[in-house]
Amino acid sequence: MQDYAHISVQPASRNCGAFISGIDLKAGINDSEAREIHAALMRHQVVFFRDQDVSPIEQAAFAKHFGPLRQARRAAFETRDDSPEVSVIINDRERPPYIDHFHADGMFRGKPEFGSVLKAEQPPEIGGDTIFVSLTAAWRGLSESMRALLEDKIGLYDFMRLHSSPEKARNWEGPGREGMIQTRDENPPVKHPLVPRHPVTGEHCLYFSESFTAAILGVTKYESEGLHAMLTRHCAKPEFQYRLQWRKGTIAFWDNRSSLHYAVADYWPDTRIMHRLTIEDDALGASMLKAAE
Ligand SMILES: [Fe+2]
Repeated sequence: MQDYAHISVQPASRNCGAFISGIDLKAGINDSEAREIHAALMRHQVVFFRDQDVSPIEQAAFAKHFGPLRQARRAAFETRDDSPEVSVIINDRERPPYIDHFHADGMFRGKPEFGSVLKAEQPPEIGGDTIFVSLTAAWRGLSESMRALLEDKIGLYDFMRLHSSPEKARNWEGPGREGMIQTRDENPPVKHPLVPRHPVTGEHCLYFSESFTAAILGVTKYESEGLHAMLTRHCAKPEFQYRLQWRKGTIAFWDNRSSLHYAVADYWPDTRIMHRLTIEDDALGASMLKAAE
């Protein structure tokens, strides 16, 4: 077990997630604390903090310790004037939830993003959990024969595989329309290794999601469809997961290179409001690797 001098780390399940305590994110963190949080994130793919009453600006200040933040764009989610990096994910009676599928954020981009920091601003009284999946555990959970088949494959990842679905239709209307069109036009289908090695840990990650992986290349269309169905079922195995119950002020920080998430859409017509930040690059990980050379 890794030792931490500044934080306490409690694994949430055998294969995925950990709770970090002994730290007050509102007060701000220092570089030593950021390095330990990063180390826990590398080990557990997603880390959770309870009872963090941070404003959007404080949430952004926390996230900036790990790398540059992306400016939020009004498209599928709302934005805020006081904190340009925060996306507001709001679901209520008029806006039913629909992120009930496994995905990693930004998988469809030419340069997928590193991390997401999500805070429960107004969680529903019951329901609205998020399920996280360790893609390192999912990879290890495949048979040796299947790993040999998949290891050198390239996947095709497509924004429109998900966003052209009927459930997403409302994003193409109203104030987010322009942002949706812009995001689509900037992100034509893109190729990524299906099983990259994690740039920091060196571990294999099964970089696959039911919603953004459009095809597995190098096999026939029917074989690709069959592999897609198998991997979708495989990644949904509870053994690779942790299911987080949110409370107001809970924060989840996940590594999009090594995890999937699924927002359980069981709370409608109740309201669920979340604040999300996107960290584009793992700048802290890169600097730690460089220092270790
Ligand atoms: Fe997401």
